[in-house]
Amino acid sequence: MSLDDRAFQRCLSPACGATFGAEEVLVGCPRCGELLDVDYEWDRLELPRKLSDFEAAWSERQVPWQFSGVWRFHRLLPFVDVSKAATIGEGQTLLQQADVVGRFVGTAPGHLHLQYEGMNPSGSFKDNGMTAAISHARAIGARRAACASTGNTSASLALYTGMSQGMRAIIFVGSGKIAYGKLSQALDYGALTLQIAGDFDDAMARVQEVCHRQGIYLVNSVNPFRLEGQKTVMLRVLEALRWEVPDWIVVPGGNLGNSSAFGKAFLELHRFGLIDRIPRLAVINASGARTLSELVTQRGLNWNGGRYDRSIVDCYYAELDARSAKASTIASAIEINRPVNLSKCLRALDVCDGVVREVSDQEILDAKAQVGAGGYGCEPASAASVAGAKLLRAEGIIGADERVVCILTGHLLKDPDATVAYHSADQQRFNETLGVRGVRRASFANHAVTVGNDFDDITRAIQLYG
Ligand code: F0G
Repeated sequence: MSLDDRAFQRCLSPACGATFGAEEVLVGCPRCGELLDVDYEWDRLELPRKLSDFEAAWSERQVPWQFSGVWRFHRLLPFVDVSKAATIGEGQTLLQQADVVGRFVGTAPGHLHLQYEGMNPSGSFKDNGMTAAISHARAIGARRAACASTGNTSASLALYTGMSQGMRAIIFVGSGKIAYGKLSQALDYGALTLQIAGDFDDAMARVQEVCHRQGIYLVNSVNPFRLEGQKTVMLRVLEALRWEVPDWIVVPGGNLGNSSAFGKAFLELHRFGLIDRIPRLAVINASGARTLSELVTQRGLNWNGGRYDRSIVDCYYAELDARSAKASTIASAIEINRPVNLSKCLRALDVCDGVVREVSDQEILDAKAQVGAGGYGCEPASAASVAGAKLLRAEGIIGADERVVCILTGHLLKDPDATVAYHSADQQRFNETLGVRGVRRASFANHAVTVGNDFDDITRAIQLYG
């Protein structure tokens, strides 16, 4: 077993606080049902004296784990023998200053940054967490791993089991609910792909039942080891800013794993004295999947020292059921009404003095086109962060001179349908994909120009549009 005996699991609820060994496969507290954290006997571990100590890893990057943008921060997620980590060089991602997008958002030049997680091996931020989950799964001898997914978790799981000897991936996707780029990855990497009748929320409930009853290792973000890997996105952001803390982190909210992991990262860094202040966190829902926004901004749900009012959540879910309401947004990655990490996200909002907002599909697609025009590109869900930052700027919550980091969670090529429909001059195509979702215009469309295969025609087109 390559697990560290100084790592353990702890129930998130301070009232319960039960602890369990790191070797136990749990997705919730067996005593009270609350989520679990990975925690450590920090006083038996060596912490970096300052964050810049991590820079030394770069001179050792011929060693696979030192090359990894996750495992080179191993001292802050020390649950596994790092030499045995399942890594394929994830987390080589960039923080880009993005002035074109900053103009759109309304920030001063040099103040908007995009953390481009689409550069990961499977094209999304999920690889940060999957390398951690699969390392844990291997350490405890799991042979099968499963997830429910809107596409990116499944692509990432399939990739890591593909490279990890002797593990089989089983993925649950809602039928017709997954973008083609993502489905093609799961198929090509050889995962058993189960398209179930229902949406992500149905798939999520079902996969938990199947994993529990069949002893299959679950890699969704209820797995606390996965979220340990996702903490490193924030470490790379800090590193790129020369270890200065930005004012805002803006992230799309789906199952709320990222926001939860970011909150835990900042909580720990602050507790260890490695940062002197904590940035504010903005979590952005799509209006068609607005559970967090409704609960926090409308119904007053908050962490309350870990004693959050569960009846507010239960009541809202009962209302959704009574209306047979299903999540619906072009940002299929975050088309989720029952986010499994809700309570952890409430803690993150508390730690980071966070805010929650929602943005329409129209706003998401316009922001996405601006991210593309700025030279980066992302899938629709990712652009919720940029649309959310623009909204918070307009409200004056984010100041023009504040330093803002928007997380671009997934690559542009994940969902070509939405992009092509947005830029299409074909009204029918636009309507079929986007009009049905209430998108009325493509303010930043870049239509393809149809020309004959003729020199003069082509020259005219270049003169007209070039
Ligand atoms: N952005 C992208 C591109 C995603 O794929 C997801 C989640 C999110 C944002 C939301 O992140 O859950 O941490 O709040 N995708 C999951 C999946 C649900 O199955 O791939 P979160």
